[in-house]
Amino acid sequence: MNTAPHTPVMVNEVLDALSPRDGAIYVDATFGAGGYSVALLEAADCTVWGIDRDPVAISFGNQLEKKYHGRLTVLNGPFGDMVRLLGDVGVEKIDGIAFDLGVSSMQLDERARGFSFRADGPLDMRMNDTGATAADAVNELAEEELADIIYRYGEERRSRRIAKAIVELRKNTPITRTGQLARLVRGVVAKSKDGIDPATRTFQALRIYVNDELGELHRGLNAAETLLAPGGRLSVVSFHSLEDRQVKEFLRQRSGVAPKPSRHLPPEQADVPAATFKLLSRRAVKTTEAEADLNPRARSARMRAAERTSAPTSRAA
Ligand SMILES: C[S@@+](CC[C@H](N)C(=O)[O-])C[C@H]1O[C@@H](n2cnc3c(N)ncnc32)[C@H](O)[C@@H]1O
Repeated sequence: MNTAPHTPVMVNEVLDALSPRDGAIYVDATFGAGGYSVALLEAADCTVWGIDRDPVAISFGNQLEKKYHGRLTVLNGPFGDMVRLLGDVGVEKIDGIAFDLGVSSMQLDERARGFSFRADGPLDMRMNDTGATAADAVNELAEEELADIIYRYGEERRSRRIAKAIVELRKNTPITRTGQLARLVRGVVAKSKDGIDPATRTFQALRIYVNDELGELHRGLNAAETLLAPGGRLSVVSFHSLEDRQVKEFLRQRSGVAPKPSRHLPPEQADVPAATFKLLSRRAVKTTEAEADLNPRARSARMRAAERTSAPTSRAA
């Protein structure tokens, strides 16, 4: 039986992509319960720096650090800041980095964190313990802005109706509980044929907004480009199309697969920066059926991986 608080997804594929070796330095940019860190530490005599912005994940990591006697260190902060976080501990170049995006089971299953529409709890959704909560967003943002967030980050076609219903309700009653919001959405959006809870997309949207997840991904990928040594490997596991699209686009641009900005000009005038990454596979790798059967969360996972070239990081972040 698996007793870890979070079952890591696509570990074998991530290990294949990073190809861990003795003496190398790896970053587990989304430490969680440390599933990837442990897999790396067990696969080679390497060093791992775990990063997480959730203090609960960090306390968990502090326990695990003892087992690996100086080979594992966890750092608390957003991975978008990792050039600074790692620089502060003297790390400037790394040999591999793994991102496993989104929330952990530890976060989802703890109703007091307010991530889940399945269990009633305070409408919080912050991965760390500072800044505005989902309740702040729902009670304070203008109707149009709420509708845009739900549309853009939840890909929810009924975003305008949901935002209208939120604004109606909050005139009399502040919306402070996950159960309250989930009921409101279910009252406005019909259940789809695939049986997915109508609240799923609105909750995803608010979580992405509250934690600036796409902004973090942008900064995190650029930081990875800066930190990876030539030959170093990047692996990103994502769980929804917004994330995967952003990773795909970043890698297309940086590997020279995307159309060149000035392709009608002769090469010497085109000023195309040299590719900083080489794709390890053109398509995203999907989880195996066997893994998806054991861990339903893995079903929507996609992994993209690439190797850093020796070209300098030449673009603005
Ligand atoms: C899907 S879980 C990772 C699970 C991990 N691979 C494991 O095996 O346990 C994602 C973790 O990344 C953290 N996280 C998400 N976005 C982050 C960010 N921008 N900076 C730092 N940590 C982040 C979350 O707090 C969460 O603990």
